[in-house]
Amino acid sequence: MSLNIAVMISGSGSNLQSIIDAIEKNSLKSEIKIVISNTKNAYGLVRAEKHGIKSRYLSKKNYNSPMEYEEELLEILNNKKIDLIVLAGYLGIVPGEIIKHYKNKIINIHPSLIPSFCGKGFYGLTVHEKVLEYGVKVTGATTHFVDEGVDTGPIIMQEPFKIEDEITAEELQKEVLKIEHKILVETLGLIENKKLEINGRRVLIRR
Ligand code: GRF
Repeated sequence: MSLNIAVMISGSGSNLQSIIDAIEKNSLKSEIKIVISNTKNAYGLVRAEKHGIKSRYLSKKNYNSPMEYEEELLEILNNKKIDLIVLAGYLGIVPGEIIKHYKNKIINIHPSLIPSFCGKGFYGLTVHEKVLEYGVKVTGATTHFVDEGVDTGPIIMQEPFKIEDEITAEELQKEVLKIEHKILVETLGLIENKKLEINGRRVLIRR
């Protein structure tokens, strides 16, 4: 089933690019109806432009109240008849109203094996620095549904990455990013094909 997708970004948009590439090679049936960035100069906006995808800079700070921002975001999502919101390197907070309205219709990609190295302050390179600092032997990436918490919603997919001793945080970030791109597209494929069954906190995959 083809989904109308909204992708929310804050930065380079390499996860967005992985969705664009998958759609363009017909590995995914969905359509990215809008890319929304909360940072004006996010390279992800350039990526959208290059692929003829509508994009919008939308930041809370440009509105008089959180309510006004929320109404604008909801209106965009309604106008585009969005079925699924994908947070792809999005560093903003999704308003509670939106989370309620799109219950189990918002997914996020996180660069660690949740519940490790996640939550407030765990984003970008910091995640990988903390992983190496702690000395864990395995890290990876996670896709999950978004709920009111930070990185706390039901986990959909995870893939591990074995840490070799001499790896740097930057090298680790690159390796984990490859996994993010892979499992994000796979997650979207499962949702398109209605393969997910949510049972409390457990997300079962009907292969
Ligand atoms: C990456 O660190 C990724 O782990 C996280 O956001 C960061 C930027 O991703 N999800 P992207 O290149 O903007 O998709």
